[in-house]
Amino acid sequence: MKKSTVYFCQECGYESSKWLGQCPACKSWSTFVEEPVVKNSKGKAISLSEKSKPVVFSEISLKESERISTDIIELDRVLGGGIVPGSLCLIGGDPGIGKSTLLLQLCQKLSHKGLKVLYASGEESLSQIKMRANRIGDFNDNMSLMAETDLETIKGCTLKAKPDVLIIDSIQTMFNSEVSSAPGSVSQVRESTSVLMHLAKGTGTTIFIVGHVTKDGNVAGPRVLEHMVDTVLYFEGDRNAIYRILRAVKNRFGGTNEIGVFEMKSNGLNEVANPSKSLLEGRPLNAQGSIVSCSLEGTRPMLIEIQALVCTTNFGIPRRTTVGTDFNKVNLLMAILEKKIGLNLSNQDAYVNITGGIKMTEPAIDLAIAIAITSSAKDIIIPDDLVAFGEVGLSGEVRSVSLPNIRVREAKKLGFKTIILPKASKEAVGEVKDIELVYVATLMEAIRYILNK
Ligand code: TYD
Ligand code: MG
Repeated sequence: MKKSTVYFCQECGYESSKWLGQCPACKSWSTFVEEPVVKNSKGKAISLSEKSKPVVFSEISLKESERISTDIIELDRVLGGGIVPGSLCLIGGDPGIGKSTLLLQLCQKLSHKGLKVLYASGEESLSQIKMRANRIGDFNDNMSLMAETDLETIKGCTLKAKPDVLIIDSIQTMFNSEVSSAPGSVSQVRESTSVLMHLAKGTGTTIFIVGHVTKDGNVAGPRVLEHMVDTVLYFEGDRNAIYRILRAVKNRFGGTNEIGVFEMKSNGLNEVANPSKSLLEGRPLNAQGSIVSCSLEGTRPMLIEIQALVCTTNFGIPRRTTVGTDFNKVNLLMAILEKKIGLNLSNQDAYVNITGGIKMTEPAIDLAIAIAITSSAKDIIIPDDLVAFGEVGLSGEVRSVSLPNIRVREAKKLGFKTIILPKASKEAVGEVKDIELVYVATLMEAIRYILNK
């Protein structure tokens, strides 16, 4: 008898005829779910442009000028300068992080620019969306809404109304009747995205897809979609923290690693033009265990406060906790401090925190973390006009980081007076006025400088 179900990996979409404990493709465990076979498997090639014959390279016209600015600077930056017509963009993130809000704000800006927008929501009713929209601001009639989960209907409306931008909120609620499995399952999500991809390339409508990421794994992870779309943006940040970071993890039309910083307020998401300044507001002055470092996100320098608290442990095994940075990195730095600086941390609890609910894992913040831990352990006060950055190697050496000159400029702009940075970056930084540059080759040198301050 022919088998009528197949098994899919929810992480990467790998297909198997039997259940497997570990996915051979992405190596994740217990991610296989059973789903009915997709009936319509005939498959049909669809060409992405009208001309289906080879074109000489020099004759291909660039449509770069067609990029549409969204008038939300932070979003433009992440998209690589604006929306590319006919592209497919996925916005992922935890529930409640602000995906729908951002897209609604995008619709508002675009409709005021005279572009036609269609917002298809499978999650909220029209009046619920309107209620939210009223908090954000005025909308005009260039924007249409539909509360619909049937993809065929949405496709029909798109072909008829020819909007410039279509929003699908969310892909997990969409239903394609040609696929027999339930909405949110891997095959539904994959088939629906494929339909949307052909719609975008065929009509030139830009499509934004919202994809949920859930912890329990009942809903197909948007990972499956990442291969199919042009741009993948992720919303990060704690739902309870005010700052939300939008990050490009894949972008066929621009750089990745660019970030946009937003702040959730009662009137929706507000852009944070100068994140360094906002993130450093209210930090303790001349404190122990608190230091500012500079991390580069894409091409954008961000100054952040790193805090460490070291205290004697009450239990047999010391406790180490990190918030906003890599746990293993902190353990490694503490081992280097023990071995190379002679700091005794074996009976000490240590907590390391990056303030503002921001996640940072760039190696350039190593030096600052090591100094913060030392400062807290030894009760040394760190001057509040000091910034430190540099990667720390296992033998306690301070290694160079990318684009040190941009980091120095950002620190200077915000009024910092001293920077501790890797010796190897000296040439790249050159001469800078009105700021003291302390070049160090080892972690020991950096700590000695702080001690003598
Ligand atoms: P939402 O965009 O619905 O999240 P998602 O679509 O990613 O699930 O964001 C909802 C959260 O944002 C909710 O907790 C309420 C908050 N919010 C505000 O604080 N101010 C606002 O103006 C809006 C519209 C939402
Ligand atoms: Mg939503």
